Amino acid sequence: MATTLRINGQTHQVDLPDDVPLLWVLRDDIGLTGTKFGCGVAACGACTVHIDGEAVRSCQVPLSDVWGEVTTIEGLGTPQAMATIQQAWVDHQVAQCGYCQSGQIMQAAALLAENPAPSDADIDEAMLGNLCRCGTYPRIRAAIHDAAARLQEA
Ligand code: FES
Ligand code: FES
Repeated sequence: MATTLRINGQTHQVDLPDDVPLLWVLRDDIGLTGTKFGCGVAACGACTVHIDGEAVRSCQVPLSDVWGEVTTIEGLGTPQAMATIQQAWVDHQVAQCGYCQSGQIMQAAALLAENPAPSDADIDEAMLGNLCRCGTYPRIRAAIHDAAARLQEA
């Protein structure tokens, strides 16, 4: 039986087994490849998406457990908010290889939605599970502070 999902404001019928992880649904069935596979065991954060605004590891959420609207990097936030966060990432030249960065941005966006002015400690705690083999952590922190300031001015 097909499962109905809401993803980035659109309705999708997904005809896959209930235990297929959301990450596979997004990438292989829907074609939203901005969300990345890193570890498959909830250890890296590359697959981070939002479900009803909450940052989740899509490699760990079976299709049958998707409880709300899914937002991926392709559909994150308002155009203004997304542009602001992306621009901060660009201005701080955060990305190196870039592989982890969609997950980093999704995690950061969930943090900023919950805490518009996070401290360094808040950022470190929120971003702890998002790994970056290129070591961009200082730039991620700087970009989050910058995005927070810009969003508050907007
Ligand atoms: S691929 Fe999901 S946490 Fe690493
Ligand atoms: S930018 Fe390369 S893994 Fe993070």
